[in-house]
Amino acid sequence: MDQPSAATSTTTTATAPNPLPASHSTSTFSSQAEPLTERPTQKRPMEHDESNPDAAPADTSDEQQAAKRTRFGTRYLEDESQVFEQNAWDNVEWDPEQIEYAKKVVREQALTMVSEADRERYEAEAGEFWNKFYSQHDTKFFKDRNWLFTEFPELMPSENSTDSYHIFEPGCGVGNTVLPILQTNRNPNLRVYAADFSARAVELLKETPLFQAEQARCQAFVHDITSTDPYPIPEGSLDVIIIIFVLSAVDPSKMQDAMTRLARLLKPGGALLLRDYGRHDLTQLRFKKNKMLSDNFYVRGDGTRVYFFSQDDLDSMLTKAGLVKEFNRPDNRLIVNRAKQIKMYRVWLQVKYVKPFADGSLPAPLVSTAVVPPATSSPASGSGSKSAEMDE
Ligand SMILES: C[S@@+](CC[C@H](N)C(=O)[O-])C[C@H]1O[C@@H](n2cnc3c(N)ncnc32)[C@H](O)[C@@H]1O
Repeated sequence: MDQPSAATSTTTTATAPNPLPASHSTSTFSSQAEPLTERPTQKRPMEHDESNPDAAPADTSDEQQAAKRTRFGTRYLEDESQVFEQNAWDNVEWDPEQIEYAKKVVREQALTMVSEADRERYEAEAGEFWNKFYSQHDTKFFKDRNWLFTEFPELMPSENSTDSYHIFEPGCGVGNTVLPILQTNRNPNLRVYAADFSARAVELLKETPLFQAEQARCQAFVHDITSTDPYPIPEGSLDVIIIIFVLSAVDPSKMQDAMTRLARLLKPGGALLLRDYGRHDLTQLRFKKNKMLSDNFYVRGDGTRVYFFSQDDLDSMLTKAGLVKEFNRPDNRLIVNRAKQIKMYRVWLQVKYVKPFADGSLPAPLVSTAVVPPATSSPASGSGSKSAEMDE
């Protein structure tokens, strides 16, 4: 798991004259702090909406949200003097000094690791920490992932299709991914499976009116992706598995088996789509003392955990699971708080791996021709949503 930084393997289409590494430490993010025994924190890293101006407020018009979506990946900073002239810049390149600074921060974090006893407890009670999280935040924490259809056209491969099409989201939470899928993809023969190891999350998902209205097309159940309990899904039956900010919550030593078991559910030609945290993301560098569990794996103040992937981590794991890379790319974004003149470097990874057909051939990459209607907020997306749209 000790791989080169995602930032180092970035290919970019534009360069950003980089600020001094000190810009990382000028962030206004609050520190994570509570020891294990204390009440979970109210604030989690992603609660700072200003960290991502792409996170449209829930009452922003559909047109505005659609316009924002089309801008992802096209805002290049070519003149550093203009950095505070817009809220976000795409494909920013990290300079060697900045990468060195990030590695130094991680080396320092490793000097004060969480004790073995606490590490074991966080693992044994992982589901309980997420249950507490959902009991506290209900459906109000994450925003609906309305960017999904522009990033992953596989979720709606063609308009007006009536072909049987089966999608599974492990780690579905309260439905911020599956509900927009059900809302947008109107194929009557779509089947969406949604699972989470937090029984509270699954309960909240099942209570939403949209889920209840969609029961013919959707099934939700409690399942831990690290367990060997069989899935109620036939092997070789799924067109798509979508994993959004879930694998990072799993102990790295259990990730490979979990991915191998999931890959078996895909049909030949099926695709595994994943978006998650990348190595040296701002939120990794912000962890203070006594938060590191193992290399690049940390515990938050509320007991939930997060791993920061390199591209190689994911490539190696998904390849060993029998899948073949279609793409594996970093989303390196500079988010700017113009009012406070703060720069925040975010790193996410987005991948698509496919299961080969029996003769070893691969499906043709999907180019979306579907006209995706502007997404509306699903019932899971409360106006109090606190996470950034492209973020956790
Ligand atoms: C950041 S949330 C993302 C939720 C959802 N994928 C979304 O897009 O909104 C991570 C979710 O992963 C779930 N999770 C973490 N570890 C899991 C595991 N071992 N098995 C199943 N779900 C897990 C948590 O309960 C939580 O709901």
